[in-house]
Amino acid sequence: MNILAPSILAADFWRLGEQIRELEKSGVIYLHIDVMDGLFVPSISYGMPVITSLRKRTQMFFDVHLMVQEPERYVKTFADCGADMINFHVEATERVEETIAAIRSCGRKAGITIKPATPARAVEPYLDLVDMVLVMTVEPGFGGQRLMPECVDKVREVRRMAESRGLHLDIEVDGGITAENVAEVMRAGANVVAAGSQVFQGNISVNVKDFMHRMNDREEGQGKR
Ligand code: DX5
Ligand code: ZN
Repeated sequence: MNILAPSILAADFWRLGEQIRELEKSGVIYLHIDVMDGLFVPSISYGMPVITSLRKRTQMFFDVHLMVQEPERYVKTFADCGADMINFHVEATERVEETIAAIRSCGRKAGITIKPATPARAVEPYLDLVDMVLVMTVEPGFGGQRLMPECVDKVREVRRMAESRGLHLDIEVDGGITAENVAEVMRAGANVVAAGSQVFQGNISVNVKDFMHRMNDREEGQGKR
């Protein structure tokens, strides 16, 4: 299934609820929620209270992207406040397997994430254990950057590794995704697309429609393929 996951990092926080409703009306079912700790990445974004508030008001699937050092410290907290999926960076912990197991024991989907400088083979030992691999296509930490083309090859590599094991993994790309390059990253093997600035800048419904059209070449909308 091809899924658009708008990243609320690019939202207008004064109108966050309103903008999320607009996404829902446009047929979006995933929300990408970036949590930054000021340590693993230089910036600080938002965390538990925001997710808790949103969880009370929407049924959307919360794809939480933890850019946090030692994410194992926070698995239960984010599961409790409403994450459906927890993505964490393999570079951020020595305890990748334990962290995956902790996410699973909370009944949530588990994803592992790699930064641009981390080779695809870093996720290989864990492919059987996770629901998703998130391949960053920019240096994590800020929205609005340009996609690094060399990261697209890693998407291809991860897809190949998964297929050779007979695994139907979700592969997400995140950073610098635009209407112009989305088809290319999907051809490389991504099926979940996080996009911030290109969804929230301008008219949200028009942007979503454009993305979905390009992501599902035969049919529009989510989950029809
Ligand atoms: C970057 C975040 C991304 C970011 C994407 O560290 O992980 O999710 O919000 O924003 P755009 O689509 O603007 O590159
Ligand atoms: Zn992200």
